[in-house]
Amino acid sequence: MPSQQAIGVFDSGLGGISVLREIHRLLPNEHLIYVADSGHAPYGGKTPDYIRERSKRVADFLLEQQVKALVVACNTATVHAVDYLREVLPIPVVGIEPAVKPAARLTQTGVVGVLATQQTVNSPRLHRLIREYASHVQVITQACPGLVEHVEAGDFHSDAVRQLLKHYTLPLLDAGVDTLVLGCTHYPFLAEAIHDVTHGRMTVLETSTPVTHQLMRVLEQHDLRQMENLEGDIRFFSSKQGEQHHLSMQVLWQKPLELVVLPAPYV
Ligand code: DGL
Repeated sequence: MPSQQAIGVFDSGLGGISVLREIHRLLPNEHLIYVADSGHAPYGGKTPDYIRERSKRVADFLLEQQVKALVVACNTATVHAVDYLREVLPIPVVGIEPAVKPAARLTQTGVVGVLATQQTVNSPRLHRLIREYASHVQVITQACPGLVEHVEAGDFHSDAVRQLLKHYTLPLLDAGVDTLVLGCTHYPFLAEAIHDVTHGRMTVLETSTPVTHQLMRVLEQHDLRQMENLEGDIRFFSSKQGEQHHLSMQVLWQKPLELVVLPAPYV
């Protein structure tokens, strides 16, 4: 039965675990397979062609595992690869986009900030999203090189990461931003540090819940919801090896997990 097959979820690295956690919370009986492409992270400084090529490679691995649907739990891969994946894959594909629309509704100052990777900030798709839903407010986009590397290394609170966060967020506060969009799935793991360095002066939005709701709608539409009343099985793969990597992943998942390295053609 296709509905009993797993859902594939992938990111350039560990960030997508922020989305995986929400999917598991709201759909606890679904089987999930997570792929961290950490051997190729960060995507944010790579070319769009590279991001498309890696996204397709990971998707092919997940198809081989017979997933029934794919969640691109990465804003950077969504802006550069989701249209292509939808064209070539035989299963439904759900992408993730920065929460620009709710931010434009929420802001009181009329100034919204978006933190994202360089390649998300560069993408025409983000600028289209801003034109469509936020043309009545000012939106300041800020590329944040370096943050993803800290999260991948399991560093959420060091002086170095706080300095970097200050560098990216304090100019936004000065510009009047009261609503901050986390446009990269790694950044929710820095939400506490962001709150500290900005003294809680901005409302921070991320997208794991709306993406999970979209996934639920897509599963319903395709008659793919798991109907059995069981605890879903969750499997983890990565294109990177190493004890530290495994430990970082467990810290983010908040439970022990078995990590399998992707087989050769997909690494
Ligand atoms: N987590 C990813 C995102 O949502 C990408 C981070 C990266 O690899 O640069 O954009």
